[in-house]
Amino acid sequence: MKALEIKNLHKSFGKFEALKGIDIEIEKGKCLGLLGTNGAGKSTTIKIITGQLSATSGEVRVFNLSPSTHLKEIHRMIGLVPEGQPLYDDITVKENLDVFRRVYSLPQEKTLEIADELELSQKLNSKIKDLSKGLRQRVLIAKAIIHSPTFLLLDEPTSGLDPSSSENIYKRLEILKEKGTTILLTTHLMNDVERLCDDIVFINKGKIVAKGTPSQIKSDYKENQIIIEARHLTTNNLIQRTFSTQDDYLSEIYKLKEQYEILSIKTHEPKLEEIFISLTETSNEKDHD
Ligand SMILES: Nc1ncnc2c1ncn2[C@@H]1O[C@H](COP(=O)(O)OP(=O)(O)OP(=O)(O)O)[C@@H](O)[C@H]1O
Ligand SMILES: [Mg+2]
Repeated sequence: MKALEIKNLHKSFGKFEALKGIDIEIEKGKCLGLLGTNGAGKSTTIKIITGQLSATSGEVRVFNLSPSTHLKEIHRMIGLVPEGQPLYDDITVKENLDVFRRVYSLPQEKTLEIADELELSQKLNSKIKDLSKGLRQRVLIAKAIIHSPTFLLLDEPTSGLDPSSSENIYKRLEILKEKGTTILLTTHLMNDVERLCDDIVFINKGKIVAKGTPSQIKSDYKENQIIIEARHLTTNNLIQRTFSTQDDYLSEIYKLKEQYEILSIKTHEPKLEEIFISLTETSNEKDHD
């Protein structure tokens, strides 16, 4: 069963085309990372899935339902952590959570239960404006999952958080995933995506530039680098040379051997971050051609 199916999705704001034909699928229970630089179209995609924006053309199905005809049903099944931490600043954590509890007609205990789950019990009477960014993000997650959604969408959930707050959020997402929640998260930060996401979609300027599992993307992109460490036979100077597998690196090694002792030959698997930067640059260059 598919939690999400997006086909040939286009979105224009006036003459500006923010999404230029996007296809995304998520199987129930899986986690997909939607990666892209600023302005790539990540939030626009999420807003179309959640019905905050309507598509210009293309098909969107959430558990086989269309947001244009079945938004109420979809809202019962999904939870959203939007970007920018929109919370009511002058009221307490408890009051914030109560607002959303009431939206779903849930009993009072649910507020305490969800606060406990997100380790916010000690903060229930604190005003949102007095909380750290990391705690605010936990309130947003509590709010988003108060009705136990089967599909959680998070728009840049760790943006602006310090490493320990990010870790805390990712641990919680891992627990939700273990319980079977489908997750779609957007980010421009590659760290942790690999550990949580089964699939990754890279978008740039409204177009998909790569998709697949993290290891598929890496192996598709295995323009691996060969790193050679060597020591000069007379001076003992240590050097490191980097070649691409596409270079004629074997003859380079033979040349080196005349003056150097080869200490090690290693391959370098590109990190997702490097692939992301490179794909974004290539796609930007193509646009300029
Ligand atoms: N309501 C709008 N009116 C006009 N243009 C918009 C609107 N919303 C988004 N855009 C434009 O569409 C493009 C995609 O925006 P979007 O917010 O989806 O990007 P994003 O990938 O979420 O970026 P960020 O990482 O900055 O959050 C951007 O160029 C943005 O300026
Ligand atoms: Mg955004």
